[in-house]
Amino acid sequence: MNESKNANSAKPAANSMWGGRYANSPSEIMERINASIDFDRRLYRQDIAGSKAHCEMLIAQGVIASDDGAAILGGLDAVLAEIESGDFEFKTALEDIHMNIEARLKELVGDAAGRLHTARSRNDQVATDIRLWVRDAIDSLDSQLKALQEALIAKAETHAGDAMPGFTHLQPAQPVTFGHHMLAYVEMYGRDRARLADCRKRVNESPLGAAALAGTSFPIDRNMTARALGFDRPLANSLDAVSARDFALEFLAAAAICASHVSRQAEELVIWCAPQFGFIRLSDSFSTGSSIMPQKRNPDAAELARAKAGRIYGALTTLLVVIKGLPLAYGKDMQEDKEPVFDATDSLSLMLAAMAGMVSDMTVAPDALRRALADGFPTATDLADWLVRVLDMPFRDAHHVTGTLVGVAEAQGVALDALSLDAMQAVEPRITQDVFSVLSIDASVASRTSEGGTAVELVRQAAAAARERFL
Ligand code: ARG
Repeated sequence: MNESKNANSAKPAANSMWGGRYANSPSEIMERINASIDFDRRLYRQDIAGSKAHCEMLIAQGVIASDDGAAILGGLDAVLAEIESGDFEFKTALEDIHMNIEARLKELVGDAAGRLHTARSRNDQVATDIRLWVRDAIDSLDSQLKALQEALIAKAETHAGDAMPGFTHLQPAQPVTFGHHMLAYVEMYGRDRARLADCRKRVNESPLGAAALAGTSFPIDRNMTARALGFDRPLANSLDAVSARDFALEFLAAAAICASHVSRQAEELVIWCAPQFGFIRLSDSFSTGSSIMPQKRNPDAAELARAKAGRIYGALTTLLVVIKGLPLAYGKDMQEDKEPVFDATDSLSLMLAAMAGMVSDMTVAPDALRRALADGFPTATDLADWLVRVLDMPFRDAHHVTGTLVGVAEAQGVALDALSLDAMQAVEPRITQDVFSVLSIDASVASRTSEGGTAVELVRQAAAAARERFL
């Protein structure tokens, strides 16, 4: 085959960063499969921070001369400024963010740039960058979760006293308050924050100084670089430092669980804003119209928040499968950690923003909540409890009697509290007028005073406590 006519054949010049032993440069396909610059450019800030910390340490330890070090530090600041102003040209031929930055550094400060990579490898460099990036992502997701909790608590306070049907199997079960329902999500998002905070402890350890895999013969100070970058400590084992990605898996797992919560709540918003429910109205800013049906108010943001959970589960699965079976230490497979981490973070961030927006903007319809309580006999349990408490019936018998009474009410087409005392006594002669004191919605809610229950006063206290605990 004539090499020169093959589009995938090698080009003449070798890679300037590692091409010492190569006569030819990579083929087009090699370059494409190898390059990560299209996505890992998002690590530029972390990469420059890591390089500056490394350089300062090399100066302090006398590994590089201070004038070279100063040139490098100044040059890294200049590169940062170029990237932030959009003046930086990212090159696929330079593979990744690390080599793009170093190559530009060389153009700016000359030969001194070549000393930056002393006692370092891209293996510890990239592990450092991605840990710094995930740490920032955790911090920003945490503030988004907090903002969402704040919106939910505010709604819970406003609607602490508004009764609605609580559901099991999406069938009316027992009355709860709207505030109670909002606070259930506050708890879930609180655990999401706790999971992320716990994950952050293991993210926040420094790989820098592990070099390629074995450590280095230079007299480096890993504690100094760890401190400079805000890490709690250096990772203890150099092989582990460059090849561990469980911090990213843990982050994605926490993100996936959080996404499951957002998606459950999104589903409820979708249901609640359907006219058949009418529990809430989403604001214009979070609804969309139909191109054919003029009457429509579609909850697209809620539907997409519900759907995007799928991408995040996908990201977790992707990285689990990438890491599975990889021998120590670094392998290029690990370059595939970034896109799932970035996509999951972007998706979750957008989901949380949309959810916070929908919740704070939505209007709740207490009348519709109340109307919905007319269906499904939501105080049937209160009736059974009355039979236990007042007539000393075993609960199973009370359950049976109540079931019969629900059948009678259903046949008459009325709610339980609209049955006559005679009709009740026909089923259970010992029932007295007192039973009606427990059959109203408000009495039912008021009776749920056990810890964590839905009684209005408890919900008010829970909202105040949630402010203390979370905001
Ligand atoms: N772009 C690479 C990554 O993201 C950087 C590390 C490359 N290391 C190497 N030995 N080729 O993983």
